[in-house]
Amino acid sequence: MEKHILVTGGAGYIGSHTCVQLLERGYQVTVLDNYCNSSPQALKRVEQIAEKKIEAIEGDIRNQALLEQVLRSKTYSGVIHFAGLKAVGESSEKPLEYYDNNVSGSLSLIRAMQSHGVKCMIFSSSATVYGDPKYLPLDEAHGLGPVNPYGRTKFMVEEMLRDLVASDSQWSVGLLRYFNPVGAHPSGLIGEDPRDVPNNLMPFISQVAVGRRQHLNVFGGDYDTPDGTGVRDYIHVDDLAKGHVLALETLIERARLLTVNLGTGAGCSVLEMLKAFETACGKPLSHQVQPRRPGDIATSFADCRLAEQELGFRAERTIRQMCEDTWRWQSNNQNGYS
Ligand code: NAD
Ligand code: UFG
Repeated sequence: MEKHILVTGGAGYIGSHTCVQLLERGYQVTVLDNYCNSSPQALKRVEQIAEKKIEAIEGDIRNQALLEQVLRSKTYSGVIHFAGLKAVGESSEKPLEYYDNNVSGSLSLIRAMQSHGVKCMIFSSSATVYGDPKYLPLDEAHGLGPVNPYGRTKFMVEEMLRDLVASDSQWSVGLLRYFNPVGAHPSGLIGEDPRDVPNNLMPFISQVAVGRRQHLNVFGGDYDTPDGTGVRDYIHVDDLAKGHVLALETLIERARLLTVNLGTGAGCSVLEMLKAFETACGKPLSHQVQPRRPGDIATSFADCRLAEQELGFRAERTIRQMCEDTWRWQSNNQNGYS
């Protein structure tokens, strides 16, 4: 019998790419999304790529009655929980919205799962839970100390899930700490579609490339890095999606707590990424070096050995593929899904 998976936030950037791979691996998929940062169009495109149907439910993870109804409607083998707010800057301006959506929303979902005996969850955590790196590469044993409200919501949900697994050995939980997801499905049909001015590097560069923005602001040229700009571990969103499918399969097979980084293990600077994107789109892109962005660190990259040991996971796609796939998506969909 086909296994059925509930995907919260499945219409979003990482969720949509993961849904494609779940469908391709033969899972049945129900998505619960309130579309506060996405479009139902993304799910239509997912169905087009996979040539399979998704059950899409419009709704909020904080709606306990709806969650009960969804979880009662069929037997789920697990939940992949992407739904949440993710803008670091905004989380300092509107902390209560972040705690409400990310922490209370997750609690509602976990409660409903508990009461329906669905005890397998994969949670979208973030490298941001580590805070300022004390050493590199960042391994899972590194201390936790998020430095903004968004990061603290991720930390709190991690804590909640750790306590839950400690209290009940039937629970199977994956805490996946993503580094910097970028790229798009190679079809060019789905990709990242920020609603406002992009906060993140890759979508900003790609909007400069299609002429929606004049130039890239490079935040800081005086970091202690080879070219003075910030270094991050960019991972292709399809590699990240593969990590979710592997984690799901491992966790369905055996109940446990699994905490792993999902990254490539290699760092890339802002200027290196800009250059790679210029090659992908075939034209020079204007940039201006600005002061550092408050709260940014110089360098972050993952120790990926645990994900390889535990899941057999290894990211395969290169920076070049990340840029080429982003460019295909952005140039075919200049205004995203709208
Ligand atoms: P996204 O905004 O594209 O996707 C999140 C989805 O959740 C959206 O479709 C949104 O409409 C939905 N959503 C938000 N609140 C909801 C609610 N209360 N009820 C129902 N649906 C709701 O973001 P993404 O980049 O795909 O990120 C997915 C997850 O991964 C998030 O939890 C995010 O915090 C985490 N994460 C993202 C990154 C990144 O850089 N993209 C890095 C680390 C962790
Ligand atoms: N940057 C620029 N110009 C921009 C945007 C970013 O120079 O317009 C620089 C930043 O200063 C940083 C690098 O590009 O050096 C990457 O910045 P992003 O905003 O793309 O990513 P961050 O590493 O700051 O944070 C991202 C997500 C967080 C997540 C973290 C780790 O936004 O939510 O990765 O997963 F927690």
